[in-house]
Amino acid sequence: MLMSIDERIASVFPEETDIPEIFRIGKPIIQKEYLIDGKLRTWKGKMHKVLSPVYIRKAKGLVRTVIGEYPLLTRMEALAALDAAIHAYSNGRGPWPAMSVRERLRHVEKFTTLMQGKKDEIIRLLMWEIGKSWQESKKEFDRTIDYLKSTIEAVRELDRGSMKFVIEQGIIGQIRRSPLGVILCMGPFNFPLNETFATLIPALLMGNTVIFKPPKLGVLLHYPLLRALKETFPPGVVNTVYGEGRSVIKPMLSSGKIEVLAFIGSGKTADILKSYHPKPHRLRSVLGLEAKNAAIVLRDADIDKSVRECVQGSLSFNGQRCTALKILFVHSTIADLFIDRFCREVEKLKFGMPWKKDVTITPLPEPGKTRCLRDLIRDAQRHGADIINRSGGMTNKTFLYPAVLYPVSKEMKVYHEEQFGPLVPIVPFDTIETPVRYIIESNYGQQASIFGNDPGTFSHLVDILVNQICRVNINTMCQRGPDVLPFAGRKDSGGGTLSVTDALRAFSIRTIVAARECNGEMLRQIVKVHRS
Ligand code: G3H
Repeated sequence: MLMSIDERIASVFPEETDIPEIFRIGKPIIQKEYLIDGKLRTWKGKMHKVLSPVYIRKAKGLVRTVIGEYPLLTRMEALAALDAAIHAYSNGRGPWPAMSVRERLRHVEKFTTLMQGKKDEIIRLLMWEIGKSWQESKKEFDRTIDYLKSTIEAVRELDRGSMKFVIEQGIIGQIRRSPLGVILCMGPFNFPLNETFATLIPALLMGNTVIFKPPKLGVLLHYPLLRALKETFPPGVVNTVYGEGRSVIKPMLSSGKIEVLAFIGSGKTADILKSYHPKPHRLRSVLGLEAKNAAIVLRDADIDKSVRECVQGSLSFNGQRCTALKILFVHSTIADLFIDRFCREVEKLKFGMPWKKDVTITPLPEPGKTRCLRDLIRDAQRHGADIINRSGGMTNKTFLYPAVLYPVSKEMKVYHEEQFGPLVPIVPFDTIETPVRYIIESNYGQQASIFGNDPGTFSHLVDILVNQICRVNINTMCQRGPDVLPFAGRKDSGGGTLSVTDALRAFSIRTIVAARECNGEMLRQIVKVHRS
């Protein structure tokens, strides 16, 4: 007999024997090592227990899976990591910044090969540590490898370009990109691999040295790469720290010796981190922060296509993407039809454990997340919205079945706050001014999606929206990729632009070697013969 959605949610967590052999996590992974100055040191202090969002059904009830432990380092180890990075950089005279681009590329190519050998292990850990489905975890891994390969190509191209000379008003000059110093890289929990390496590798390739602190959730999945980092890069070029931000990040930033902060996470944390630096004007920041991307479904939109994009855009990986559609504005003349189809599509989404084939909705890793989402739902209900899909908002421990909320209005918290989870607020509108004002008045400014058919309306909206956000998607959900496109946010949504080529710019500065034209031959000799 077929189970109802409620029954399936109630029994969403498996017994040990239900887990396919290849996806089992096995014995807890106790990571005691951390990388400083080219050495894997062994930690003897306090450890942090890593809990998976996946529970296992046992005779005594549901038991949360312990996947392992990682070190809770202190100020002392953090400062040792900083010293190692400073020493490796040595004011730009260290072996790494002074190395030829070709040599640096060889190191990164070696790392990419070693990383590929760890694919299955990393994917399995992504699934267990942050609850990402097997397909999405695999996609994140493959996309990261592609990103590294494209970055390698982009650096080659950049290097070729920097051999050229410019002659202007009697001055001959060569413009090159130089490193900035010590970079602190901190990625987010939802794309812990991709968004970390999308800053760390460009930072390294430009000649900087790096301290890498993984997000609180999503640490162990980097463990298989620790040895590869040690084997690939000269001592002090990459160093790792783990632990509480106040203990490990604060002393490093307070020293004033970090030149760039690459951080993907919340604006609140970014503000705290930047405030630690004694000279905030000197700290360059590359930030990817919150967003509240809106979809605007116009009255002439193709309902089926827009529903498909909006379901995927709002609920893939449980809506835990910074680029997810976090509020849908639907023209009131088509709202009934849209929400009916939308709920039907939501019901078709597979849910369950990360290893289940084609699963979209999985357990949530953030502590207390289902409670926060339930609070947002209750607040919306108090102000007049209903959960309009079957079993919407039903929870079981770390699992929350998607809730479609309608009609949502500005009195509700979910209208303004980033939910970062499987809640879909839908707002009916009569005039285009409603969603436009929403975007203008929002604190966020990352992307939006418009669904419709009339080029005139599109062009009117595009002209307004390009001055508010950084990407306008037409009949398509919001997304970061393809990674060659610039990815940025205005207002509270970020700072700096990332893409394969933009990241190289973010972690370097242009410097010019210039001379009067009569010294041209000498300049050519310096660059071509002596290979400066
Ligand atoms: O969380 C932000 C990610 O970079 C989203 O990437 O839009 O390509 O899924 P995506």
